[in-house]
Amino acid sequence: MTTTTTTALTHIANLVTNDPSLGDGTPLGLIRDAAVVIDGDRVVWTGESSRAPATDNAVDAGGRAVVPGFVDSHSHLVFAGDRTAEFNARMSGRPYSAGGIRTTVAATRAASDDELSANVARYLGEALRQGTTTFETKSGYGLTVEDEARALRIAARHTDEVTFLGAHIVSPDYADDPAGYVDLVTGPMLDACAPHARWIDVFCERGAFDEDQARTILTAGLAKGLHPRVHANQLGHGPGVRLAVELDAASADHCTHLDDADLDALGQGSTVATLLPGAEFSTRAAWPDARRILGAGATVALSTDCNPGSSFTSSMPFCVALAVRDMGMTPDEAIWSATAGGAAALRRTDIGRITPGARADLVLLDAPSHVHLAYRPGVPLVRAVWRAGARVV
Ligand code: NIG
Ligand code: FE
Repeated sequence: MTTTTTTALTHIANLVTNDPSLGDGTPLGLIRDAAVVIDGDRVVWTGESSRAPATDNAVDAGGRAVVPGFVDSHSHLVFAGDRTAEFNARMSGRPYSAGGIRTTVAATRAASDDELSANVARYLGEALRQGTTTFETKSGYGLTVEDEARALRIAARHTDEVTFLGAHIVSPDYADDPAGYVDLVTGPMLDACAPHARWIDVFCERGAFDEDQARTILTAGLAKGLHPRVHANQLGHGPGVRLAVELDAASADHCTHLDDADLDALGQGSTVATLLPGAEFSTRAAWPDARRILGAGATVALSTDCNPGSSFTSSMPFCVALAVRDMGMTPDEAIWSATAGGAAALRRTDIGRITPGARADLVLLDAPSHVHLAYRPGVPLVRAVWRAGARVV
């Protein structure tokens, strides 16, 4: 005997299910004049409104669109301070470099646990109001055993998708001994951090960690049960993407500078290419060519990369609009990548879709179609959000 109550969301003008076997047969599985039935924390039925089963409650969507909750698979939310001065300098012509990370490391080390946790909650609140129902977040602004472990403990209070990024840059404390820092990251730091994380990440880039260091770090993480994801090919071409595919990383993130071998690797492997348009926007960098990546057969995710240096946005709708306008994606592709693509980048099958059995994560838009997310940039179109069946906005 079930004790949960069922709720139907009816009169949805356009429902994005991300199940190609439903609706119009496209990857978005679009159903017009649709309804969704939620039972507890799950979706139990999707289809045309006229065929919806009887339920305890009903919510009339009033001819608006519904999309799956956004899955933001890449953010850096455990930090203190901000980098307004650096952003100002950049917008006056100075280039972005990974060096600014040190400023945030100093501010983060000096902050209390409560301050850091309140910061995470604040950016998560912003994200939720913009439709994000799942997010990943990382350490990487502590760079000592204690500061990295505490960042992960704090992150784990807010999400299950926690990533150990001790290898963000070589700690300033080891400026003259990068090999010693890699030993620390793969030894005592990993031991202290692994219990609090699901993933391990490396910034594989000139000025951060080279291919051998990155392989050593990711392999050590794998041996402790953490699965890899890689910051790859952001500032210039490098080995990150190929290494990510070699190690079957869940995701290679940034993918801004790719050659044909990288594209072949992404097309053949199961590593998702995660594009982070907020970073190119906020650093005035060249855009990745999403058409080329999609053309190679890769799975593409879109994410915010929310961090105080290179991309201080928590808005998935903003990233969708940028991906369409500046990376060459169609609105349908961008919305798929921001939902089902993010789920693939986290190797999750319970989120990023609105089909029976999925977690009931839904966004009701103040618009008749999901396309408005790109068509009406900067407009607060999120009218209501359900996460795991509970209305949270
Ligand atoms: O994803 N690339 C490395 N890490 C961040 C930037 C972090 C920062 O500048 O604080 C990124 O862009
Ligand atoms: Fe990042």
